Amino acid sequence: MFESIQVAPADAILGLTEAFRADPNPHKINLSVGVYQDASGKTPVLESVQRAAKRVVEKLSSKSYLPIPGSPAYAAAVQKLMFGADHEAVASGRVATSHTPGGTGALRVAGDLIHQNLPKTTIWLTQPTWPNHPQIFAAAGVPTRTVPYFDAKTNDLAWDELITAVNQIPVGDALLLHACCHNPTGIDPTLDQWNQLADVMSRRGILPLVDFAYQGFANGIEDDAAVLKTLVGPGSELIICSSFSKNFGLYCERVGALSLVAADGKTADAVQSRVKKAIRANYSNPPAYGGELVVTVLSDPELEKLWRSEVDQMRDRINGMRKLLVETLKAKGVPGDYSFITRQRGIFSFSGLTREQVETLKKKHAIYIVGSGRINVAGITKDNVGPLCAAIADVVKG
Ligand SMILES: Cc1ncc(COP(=O)(O)O)c(C=O)c1O
Repeated sequence: MFESIQVAPADAILGLTEAFRADPNPHKINLSVGVYQDASGKTPVLESVQRAAKRVVEKLSSKSYLPIPGSPAYAAAVQKLMFGADHEAVASGRVATSHTPGGTGALRVAGDLIHQNLPKTTIWLTQPTWPNHPQIFAAAGVPTRTVPYFDAKTNDLAWDELITAVNQIPVGDALLLHACCHNPTGIDPTLDQWNQLADVMSRRGILPLVDFAYQGFANGIEDDAAVLKTLVGPGSELIICSSFSKNFGLYCERVGALSLVAADGKTADAVQSRVKKAIRANYSNPPAYGGELVVTVLSDPELEKLWRSEVDQMRDRINGMRKLLVETLKAKGVPGDYSFITRQRGIFSFSGLTREQVETLKKKHAIYIVGSGRINVAGITKDNVGPLCAAIADVVKG
């Protein structure tokens, strides 16, 4: 039977990393993969996480299963991080959080929940979006469509087109928005634009599905969560898919969360019972270790303070590299105004490089960038920024 199965195309982004590994050029640079890297090009284990890990191992008493939605302590910690200590939605019991294997797991459970319980719902995605979004929802059996998001002429948000399109999404559909650090463009709506989006969605009965994979990487832990508060008015409904891969550096531990906000506690309980059914048939219950690390950090004031300072450092380094990139492009004589890169947020930047230029950068200079021109700014260091910009100058000037 297997003979009839054709080889699947390699994952566009992870395939590039494989090609990078195989490249013998000692000066090669990989700006394709979506992980944070420090000034020495490493993806570090955070000090706060290292310290939490010791405590978790010491107090380990059982490896028995967790409940289907994970531990209540984890749910409480995630809710506090998103909404603060005493938000009305949390206090009134209308938020239900499940620990999922990463943000990807949360998105898949959200897809299953929608497919199984809201069968007429289409999920609208921004154009462009993280390439895994359409794949995840296709696997869950939920149809997707797109709204415009990026204006290539101005390298900015296509705001008028976006809000016009959101106004035309049919009632009962869902709209997936990135809370901050939009992947792949690095461009986020302003808080005022978020308020307008929230207003249209609640007025028209569109379910907000928020991908929250970079809390703390745009402007700060609380500032980034402010977006959620524009969506959580009295009686409002939404789904938030969190990831702690980036802000805790827990990529391989698979730590994420699906939080649903319903109009009241009774509805939240009913929907959560359906989330549990979806999880049970998907991966049964979550992996405990990464969640324990997050809870340990967030429940100890000293560790939490350390963690917050580490998130600040990661964000500051990325923003510093954005500035250095723009300065060095100018110094190397690359034509054009690249100052938009400093206005983008998160680890990604839509550089404006064309598919052909990206291909030449790979073949001629061993610089690996995703075909869309998306670069991982965190992959830039003081050492590689010079050769990188010289190579960009070469391909841009032709
Ligand atoms: C926008 C977005 N959502 C979700 C995820 C998934 O994160 P995780 O690794 O926690 O599954 C990513 C990871 O790159 C992402 O960029």
